[in-house]
Amino acid sequence: MFSKIFYLCAFSVSIFQVVVCTGQKKTFKEKADSVLRLMTLEEKVGQMNQYSGNWAHTGPITEDDNKLKEIKEGKLGSMLNINGVQHTTELQQLAMQSRLKIPLLFGQDVIHGYRTTFPIPLGEAASWDLKAIEQSARIAATEAAAAGIHWTFAPMVDIARDPRWGRVMEGAGEDPYLGSLIATARVKGFQGKGLGNIDAVMACAKHFAAYGAAIGGRDYNSVDMSDHTLWEIYLPPFKAACEAGAATFMNSFNDLNGIPASANAYLQKTILKGKWKFKGFVVSDWGSIGEMVKHGFAKNNYEAALTAVNAGNDMDMESRAYKDNLVKLVKEGKVQVSTINEAVKRILVKKFEMGLFDDPYRFSNEQREQREISDPEHRKIGRSVAQKSIVLLKNDPASGQQNNLLPLSKNIKTVALIGPFAKSKLEMLGFWSTGWPDSDYIVSQYDGILKKLSKSSQLLYSRGANIDDTITSGFAEAVATARQADVVIVSVGEKSDMSGEAKSRSSIRFTGVQEELVKAVYATGKPMVVLVNAGRPLIFNWTADNVPAILYTWWLGSEAGDAIADVLFGDYNPSGKLPMSFPRSEGQIPIYYNHLKTGRPAENDSDRFYRSAYIDLSIHPKFPFGYGLSYTTFKYEDLQLSTSKINNAGTIDVSFKLSNTGKYDGEEVVQLYLHDEFASVVRPVKELKDFKKVFLKAGESKVLHFKIDKQKLSFYNQHLEWTTEPGTFELMIGSSSDDIRLKKNFELI
Ligand code: BGC
Repeated sequence: MFSKIFYLCAFSVSIFQVVVCTGQKKTFKEKADSVLRLMTLEEKVGQMNQYSGNWAHTGPITEDDNKLKEIKEGKLGSMLNINGVQHTTELQQLAMQSRLKIPLLFGQDVIHGYRTTFPIPLGEAASWDLKAIEQSARIAATEAAAAGIHWTFAPMVDIARDPRWGRVMEGAGEDPYLGSLIATARVKGFQGKGLGNIDAVMACAKHFAAYGAAIGGRDYNSVDMSDHTLWEIYLPPFKAACEAGAATFMNSFNDLNGIPASANAYLQKTILKGKWKFKGFVVSDWGSIGEMVKHGFAKNNYEAALTAVNAGNDMDMESRAYKDNLVKLVKEGKVQVSTINEAVKRILVKKFEMGLFDDPYRFSNEQREQREISDPEHRKIGRSVAQKSIVLLKNDPASGQQNNLLPLSKNIKTVALIGPFAKSKLEMLGFWSTGWPDSDYIVSQYDGILKKLSKSSQLLYSRGANIDDTITSGFAEAVATARQADVVIVSVGEKSDMSGEAKSRSSIRFTGVQEELVKAVYATGKPMVVLVNAGRPLIFNWTADNVPAILYTWWLGSEAGDAIADVLFGDYNPSGKLPMSFPRSEGQIPIYYNHLKTGRPAENDSDRFYRSAYIDLSIHPKFPFGYGLSYTTFKYEDLQLSTSKINNAGTIDVSFKLSNTGKYDGEEVVQLYLHDEFASVVRPVKELKDFKKVFLKAGESKVLHFKIDKQKLSFYNQHLEWTTEPGTFELMIGSSSDDIRLKKNFELI
């Protein structure tokens, strides 16, 4: 303690006097108030200002002298895209030359790992493994914090029902319940034991709000949505992130029903800071305050700053609208000083909580940086999370054989690996990876598979085609290679920069001639497995209908090749389940399992006058939400409800027996859905309300339990009140949203 006081005394006479030397323990808020009292208006506005550096892993930080000058003048609160201890320290040293020595916050998009790249978030969501997801965020935070980063712009918690939208890869898919639990897990992972711990980074729930519902799946597009859908589908993961203690929120590029999110007081003030009592601060999205001019919502940056700050947007990322206008706006009386004070205080409190006032260089240890970013334990966990994220979409016997094709034997004489992803390393990382250039750190599928095969086996390779052109000249070699093999693995999909920000696609098929490559290789008649590398649900009907075995491998990160080989050869029994419905055609989008009931509900494709089905397409998705196979089989039986009637104070204990009836040990994600049969607003056909990921040895059985209580039966009524209504509920337990194995009704009285 003495050394800390000594340090602070040396570090800042003014802050020291007010904050520390009074000798009393002050709350962070009081400390922030003390600092606030010392600040000029210009310095306050500076704290609300965030710039980007010219980020590159090995490159220079920023060449912009003005930025450096502004840091020294205390006119900057935060920077993003400054990489590594060396660079963050250099800038922090400049901030320490400012009058009040208020430390900078360094933010970065640490979305699915820092150095150790984990599966893309949508892939991780397919694990339905909250512990694994939390652990992945924990490691990302540990590495990032060691590299000087205080704040990650994650988790992205936008619900997404449209796979044309490239940013589905960043979220947890279509379901608000799963999305909320994953939001919580990620916030907990990033923030660890709490801000102030040396390995904790501030989380940022984004993009507030409803960005995932951009019309037509076109990025940055408008969002037009009922309050009911907003509250019931899009807000819950944000609420969960807030309740989990997310330090910050980021608003979004879209307008919501005509009001840009950056100036949306309903979202930021009424809901977030009001109803949810959010204590952190809100940062704009990149330039989103300034973009309100292009939206035609503000005449110029001056008006944009005015509307944004008054709507509760605390920090301006890269628009410079605050920096250029807020002082003037306050002097003209258009913005209250109290509004500025409130925003700055929120920011300062976080800096205090992060311990940066105690020691602005506590994240500046190069040895620690080296140690953490090359910890082999992190890669082991990366491999395990990647295994869990893989979804087995299909596993039939190859033609003329009896057993399911997967898992493969390690003693197969000749395996052919074909396709443009087979030897690629960088493609394994996916969008929003921090893009380390040293591809030695990444395990390709080829390398992973090679390691698995016995010494007497042979691995052949042919690229066959590129990812996204129309050149077919490699087909002949690919076919010839396949002909020499006993089993062929074809690795296809979309490029790792085809799903992500500004990566909307109108056609979500395999790009280029990849499906033709699959057909050409399939025509050899060899047993064939397809690996699909993608950041979103893709459409590949021919492959799905013909090829006997398909693994959906997303972009799995640094350990992709090993994890895929583990699954292919049965060292890990796949357990992933889809977090989004996979459409049959782009014309079927949006398709999601929890749609509202219509007056003409249909169960079958023949019910043509029902549920506004298309005359040229099944009513079902190609692969439903919650779907995913295992090498083993599970039997669900003996559903028991402790009571068939409850009131609002009651609970039902739900139990059933799950047995592993196959030959492999394995995990099953058992899913509990509810359907409210009648209510004062139309309810979805089913809603996920609980799930468990359970490991059972081959032949083992377990009785599993769930609890139904008021919370699970509540919904938003017409007045947006979270409430219950008496009536009958159907309880469904299954292996996917479309594979319900057990059902029973109960009544809420
Ligand atoms: C994205 C955000 C991201 C920010 C900073 C924006 O373009 O929408 O999600 O955090 O850039 O990189």
